[in-house]
Amino acid sequence: MEIRLQKVIAGTGLASRRKAEEWIAAGRVTVNGKVVTELGTKVDPDRVHIKVDGKHISSTQPYVYLLLNKPKNVMSTLNDPGGRPTVKDFLRGISVRVFPVGRLDFDSEGLMLLTNHGDLAQTLLHPRYHVPKTYLIKIKQVVTDDHIRQLEQGVQLEDGMTSPAIVKKVKKAKLNSWLEITIREGRQHQVKRMMEAVGHPVLKLTRIKMGPLLLGDLEPGEFRYLTDREANALRELAEQKVALAEDSAQQVPRPRPKRPVSRAGWARSKKAKVV
Ligand code: URA
Repeated sequence: MEIRLQKVIAGTGLASRRKAEEWIAAGRVTVNGKVVTELGTKVDPDRVHIKVDGKHISSTQPYVYLLLNKPKNVMSTLNDPGGRPTVKDFLRGISVRVFPVGRLDFDSEGLMLLTNHGDLAQTLLHPRYHVPKTYLIKIKQVVTDDHIRQLEQGVQLEDGMTSPAIVKKVKKAKLNSWLEITIREGRQHQVKRMMEAVGHPVLKLTRIKMGPLLLGDLEPGEFRYLTDREANALRELAEQKVALAEDSAQQVPRPRPKRPVSRAGWARSKKAKVV
């Protein structure tokens, strides 16, 4: 079946569709040895040889992106020296070695992204790139508008002031309230510590959103593959973050992150192994 060249390239996980279009327009893509710059070009990926910068794209292992609803009382790592259950126990049938992108506390639940796309994971996790994460939390007592304002403006924790959060009231009962809180940092136990700081300890925490990804109606313990649209949105987000950081770094010279991600595209991570 013939499909657009940029879609074939994006499907391998090398880049978002938009980035693949840039590569095509820049003459970096060949089909059967000929440079193709026409964006509408359609190809049958099973019948042609496509190269980007001289490298055969089908020789790269496809990237895998999974979205798991981590249950409560499960480690968000792949193994636990203490023998507690881990997210790996829930990835039945997955033979590719994927890594969790970020952490959730043992007693938290919700959205966890797992992937073998090492560079993408690095970018999403890097504090410099500020990917928003939204949590649905149940807290002790009914929260006051004053406390919400404090959370929105930033609260003082022992490791410094938090960046402004977005806080939405969801519901309240006599003794508890539910809030949605969106933060762009990823400090340890950050939401719990922020809520403690304003006098409302967290009783339950579920991550419901990360960048463009939504937990939706996945039950705790269930996982699914990201759709093409979601994977593409994630790659676009990461590319935008890197581009923005590079642009601002050009204006104000600053040290680069330890493992910078090339704006030119996503190199295959050497860490991603098949088991
Ligand atoms: N903030 C927390 O306090 N815990 C989590 O698991 C995630 C964010």
